[in-house]
Amino acid sequence: MVRAIVISAGFVLGSWSVCAYPRKGEVDTRQVRGKCDIPVVLDAGKNVWLNFTLHPNRYYRNQVLAAAEAIDVTDSKLKKRSLVVANSGSFLWIESKEDVSKIEDAAKDVPCDQILGIVVSGLTADGCDTATGHSPTRRDAGNYVADFTAPIARQIKANPNTAFALIIEPGILPFVVRNPYLKTCETAQKTYFDNIPSALKLFDLPNSITYLDAAHGGFFGWTRGTYKDSNERLNSPRDITSHLHQIWLAAGGPSLKQFRGIATNVKSYNSWDLSPGEAFQDETTVCADLFNRARNEQQYLRILKDEFKRINSSMPVHAIMDVTRNTNSGIRQYWHDWCNVNHASFGRVPSLELTKYIHEKNSNFDTLVWATPAGFSDGTSDERSASYKLNCTGPAALQPMPEKNAWSQAYFEMMLRETRWDPYLVGSRNVDESRQFSWKRSDDTDVQHEGLVRRCDG
Ligand SMILES: *[C@@H]1O[C@H](CO)[C@@H](O)[C@H](O)[C@H]1NC(C)=O
Ligand SMILES: *[C@@H]1O[C@H](CO)[C@@H](O)[C@H](O)[C@H]1NC(C)=O
Ligand SMILES: *[C@@H]1O[C@H](CO)[C@@H](O)[C@H](O)[C@H]1NC(C)=O
Repeated sequence: MVRAIVISAGFVLGSWSVCAYPRKGEVDTRQVRGKCDIPVVLDAGKNVWLNFTLHPNRYYRNQVLAAAEAIDVTDSKLKKRSLVVANSGSFLWIESKEDVSKIEDAAKDVPCDQILGIVVSGLTADGCDTATGHSPTRRDAGNYVADFTAPIARQIKANPNTAFALIIEPGILPFVVRNPYLKTCETAQKTYFDNIPSALKLFDLPNSITYLDAAHGGFFGWTRGTYKDSNERLNSPRDITSHLHQIWLAAGGPSLKQFRGIATNVKSYNSWDLSPGEAFQDETTVCADLFNRARNEQQYLRILKDEFKRINSSMPVHAIMDVTRNTNSGIRQYWHDWCNVNHASFGRVPSLELTKYIHEKNSNFDTLVWATPAGFSDGTSDERSASYKLNCTGPAALQPMPEKNAWSQAYFEMMLRETRWDPYLVGSRNVDESRQFSWKRSDDTDVQHEGLVRRCDG
């Protein structure tokens, strides 16, 4: 009885203090405020981002403040922008059992009107994508439940006054779903299906809401049978939705109280609104839409929702989208350029205004967030290194870059220089033509993919 009263007081405080949040793109000069001292209960039936703003977690904030110090004093514009980044909400990545203790630290200064974003990313997709060499190299998470998810859940329970938003395991699902026939991928597949349902159950706690990673349009927007090596790959919206639905059912389905939906575009560069969308070199002008209809993430979500409907799934599919690096479009050559993409620009700073605007425009989206700790390397172009990936050496990637997860001042400053935060722009814009790739797209209407010729009639 007493507990219930305390909880409702938490809600009240959470709601009246939101208006104190800074306006779009404005520098927040206030210091990080103190921890909330009242328990919080999140209603996953509603869009909690209307009551909470993403917390600027101290790990990323401190890293960015240090980076701001390193910026040339004469470049006041760049310094000012770096302070906006330091004060912006951003998700904290927990990738190994050693990382778990960061949660306790990060929860120390979360005020009542903010929510601590955690990306849970401890599984390895090794062996699942031999083609791209893009199997995330992760430190060993040991026994996933005992050493990783259970301790994370304990941290969430130990901080009942802190609101948490969780993104579950980006990076592995796409590979597991796409490559069902790869022998080398069997372990990763088994690990995913054995562990994710239990993680969703463990994280079903009153002060947290969960979003399951659903990759992005470049991964699962493909029309069945049209991808170049479609014999081996399952990468249509149908493929991913059936997997997400199965995972959700295995976790208890409707009995999960705090499951809210999916997260898209985590660590990627896709646009929220660009139409007709980006053009990539391996697509033709006339046929692009025929092969991949998910030209922006709103379209991707719309297509996924149709698929969930088709299979009569009652899984909640509210979405958050990562916009940390997505404002500049036209900077990639291929959909699959994922590594340290040059000319990327910071997306909209998470705020209450942004949430209201997005939710009004497209109520399928709860809000747009920063889920990428931008400035940390995605992988290196150094062949001798453990985190070397072929895609980090392509023409779209900034080089040289340090090891995966090491800080790159050069990448960070590049992003600051590219960033505009135009108050009237919520989505993406194409960069100037001078900085776009000048490939020649084919105007053929007979599009050839391996083993498949398809006629496009415009
Ligand atoms: C926000 O907080 C108020 C006050 O406690 C509550 O009534 C409302 O349901 C909450 N809204 C959301 C979207 O969580
Ligand atoms: C969905 O429900 C409808 C109506 O009950 C039914 O006709 C259809 O076969 C179901 N689809 C699937 C994939 O179960
Ligand atoms: C990145 O990976 C793709 C997919 O396997 C591959 O086709 C492409 O050549 C790679 N890019 C570079 C620049 O190596």
